[in-house]
Amino acid sequence: NRGVMWKGRFSKPTADLVQRYGESVSYDWRLFRQDIAGSIAHARAQLKAGLLNREEFDAIESGLKDILKDIEEGNFTWSRELEDVHMNIESELTRRIGAPGAKLHTARSRNDQVATDTRLYCRTEIDEILEKVRRLQRALVMKAREYADAMMPGYTHLQRAQPVTMGHHLLAYVEMLNRDADRLKDCRRRLNVSPLGSGAIAGSTICLDRHEIAVELGFDAVTENSMDAIADRDYIMETLFDLAVIGAHLSRLSEDVILWCTAEFGFATLSDAHTTGSSLMPQKKNPDVAELTRGKTGRLYGNLTAVMVAVKGLPLTYNRDLQEDKEPLFDSIDTIKLALDVNAEMIAAMTVNTERALEAASDPMLLATDLADYLVRRGVPFRQAHELVGKAVAMSISTGTPLHQLSDDQFASISDAYGTDARSVFELTKAFSQRTNPGAPNSENTRRRIAYWENVLSK
Ligand code: ARG
Repeated sequence: NRGVMWKGRFSKPTADLVQRYGESVSYDWRLFRQDIAGSIAHARAQLKAGLLNREEFDAIESGLKDILKDIEEGNFTWSRELEDVHMNIESELTRRIGAPGAKLHTARSRNDQVATDTRLYCRTEIDEILEKVRRLQRALVMKAREYADAMMPGYTHLQRAQPVTMGHHLLAYVEMLNRDADRLKDCRRRLNVSPLGSGAIAGSTICLDRHEIAVELGFDAVTENSMDAIADRDYIMETLFDLAVIGAHLSRLSEDVILWCTAEFGFATLSDAHTTGSSLMPQKKNPDVAELTRGKTGRLYGNLTAVMVAVKGLPLTYNRDLQEDKEPLFDSIDTIKLALDVNAEMIAAMTVNTERALEAASDPMLLATDLADYLVRRGVPFRQAHELVGKAVAMSISTGTPLHQLSDDQFASISDAYGTDARSVFELTKAFSQRTNPGAPNSENTRRRIAYWENVLSK
C-alpha cells in the first residue's frame, strides 16, 4: 500500500477489490501532460506566495519535467494502488526529490486538479479535432470541384425528387461540418476557465494567485464559484454533444456513400484501399469504412448519454461518480479523430460514375415540379398546377409514355393551360440554370461556394 495519501486516519489498507474498482490511472494516465503543467503553475504560485523557496520550486519543476520526459519515453510505471494520474505523479515526485514534493499539494485538491486537467485536455483535443474537421472539409471541397457539374438525382424519402449535382450534394456536408467546427470553438471558449484554487469545495485559507496560474496555463479567466468549479461537468457534456453531432453528420455521409456504391445506385466507387473483400464471396467490395462510421456514431451518442446520466442526480459538489466522465470522453475523442481522418482519405479517393448519375438524373419525373412552375408562369395558381402535372404524371404511368414525351394532344387533353412549349422544361441544363437563388444548385452558385471554401480552408 505504498504512498497512500490519506494514511493518517486509516488503520487498514484499502481492499484489493476496492482498488481495482476505483482506480482510474489505467485510463486517466493520458492527462499526464496537463497534470504536470498544472502542478508547475501551482508550484510557481506557491513560490510567489513564499510557501516554497527558490530551491524547492526548482526541485519540483525539474522533477516534474523529468517525470514528463520519462512518461513520454515510456519509462514510467503507473501504479494502480495510487489510484489516478494525479497521485501517481505526485508520489513519484516526492520519491524522487523528497521534502519539497510533499509541499506541492498545499492549497490544492484532486477535485480542482482533475477539473483543471480535464479542461486543459479538452482544449488541446478540440484544437486537434478542429484541424481534422478542416481536413475532411478540404477533401469534400476538392471532390465537389471535381464533380461540380456532375448531375444526379436528389432524394427525399429516398425517392427521386429533383436533380442536383454531386458538387452541391458534397458541399452540403461542408456546411454541416462548418457549424460543427463553430460549435467546438464556442465550447472551447466556454471551457477555457481555470478551476484551480477551488480546492476540494471551498477554496483554501492559503490564497495563491489564481489569475497568475490561469495565465500560465493559457486560461482566459478563473471560475467564479468554487462549488460550481468542482461539481460541474457541463464542458464535458458539451464536448461530447459536439462530437456526437459530428458523428451524426459523418454517419449520414456514410449512408449516402453506402447507397452510391451499390449496384442499384452505382453513382460512386471507393478506392480498393478503403474497402474490404469477403472471405467467401469473391466478387464483394464492401464499404466497411462508411459502415463503421455509421456504427461508431452509436458510441458517440452513448458516451454523451453516459455522462449526462452520471451527473444528473448528484448533489453538489464532487462525488466519485464524476470519475465516470473520463472513459466516455476519451472514447469519443479517439473515435471522432480516427473517423475524421479515415473519411477524409476515403472521400479524397472516391470516384463518381458521372454517366450513371446523369442517366438517373435524366429521369423526366425529376422535373415534374419544374413543369408545375411552368404552368405557374402561365398564370395557373400553384395548387392547380400541381394537380395538372399530377394528371400528366398519371397519364405517363398509365400509357407507358415518358413524361417528356407526352404529345401536345395528351397535354391539351389535361388542360389548355399547357402550351406546345411545355416539353422544353425537360432540358436538364436549363432546369439548373433557372435556379438562380442563393443556395440553389446552379453551376455558378456551386463554383462560387467552392471558391469560398477553398479560400477559407487554405488559411
Ligand atoms: N480520479 C478522480 C476523478 O477522476 C480524481 C478526483 C478524486 N477526488 C476524490 N475526492 N476522490 O474524479
